[in-house]
Amino acid sequence: MKFFVDTAEIDQIRELSDLGMVDGVTTNPSLIMKSGRDIKEVTAEICSIVSGPVSAETVALDAEGMIAEGRELAKIADNIAIKVPLTWDGLKACKVLSDEGRMVNVTLCFSANQALLAAKAGATFISPFIGRLDDLNMDGLELIADIRTIYDNYGFETNILAASIRSANHMSECAKIGADVATAPAAVIKAMANHVLTDKGLDAFTKDWAKTGQKIL
Ligand code: G3P
Repeated sequence: MKFFVDTAEIDQIRELSDLGMVDGVTTNPSLIMKSGRDIKEVTAEICSIVSGPVSAETVALDAEGMIAEGRELAKIADNIAIKVPLTWDGLKACKVLSDEGRMVNVTLCFSANQALLAAKAGATFISPFIGRLDDLNMDGLELIADIRTIYDNYGFETNILAASIRSANHMSECAKIGADVATAPAAVIKAMANHVLTDKGLDAFTKDWAKTGQKIL
């Protein structure tokens, strides 16, 4: 499973990228707002750090506007994936931009039917939102599994990009289901390294080592 980091914060991207943990980046209008940066400027900086797909989201609500914005965002770098919403207009824009040979990430997906339509429209990525479904007492991971089944049934090549990931557990569950990519905040990716028994074991080793009076260096 590829790891994308869901942020527009350069420091976080750089830290994870240096460790080889970043296969791509996803941004959205809320993350751009949080960064306080100009969308084109910050996206260009991200693309200079990460060679994999970097999603930049359109904000128009009509297909024509999304297509124009998508083409403009694609000028930033060769690895831009244009993000459009899963609306009927978004699907129209997806078809046009995909036919032009551009990477398209169809976002705000909350149902298997929506994912099926995005694949038919030629999406490179479909972004089903796990956490926001869980927030409503629905099962976000079940949606990932349903889309996996449907895409595999028909050999759709659209990549399942599990999004709105809120916990390390979401990451391992997505990997078990077979999501192609998971995009998560940097804190969630880092939390995957945590285990209470690791901390407990390390504490015991450190105390015992001190009792030996030895030094390695
Ligand atoms: O990039 C979209 C997505 O990952 C948003 O996550 O936590 O705002 O639901 P969240």
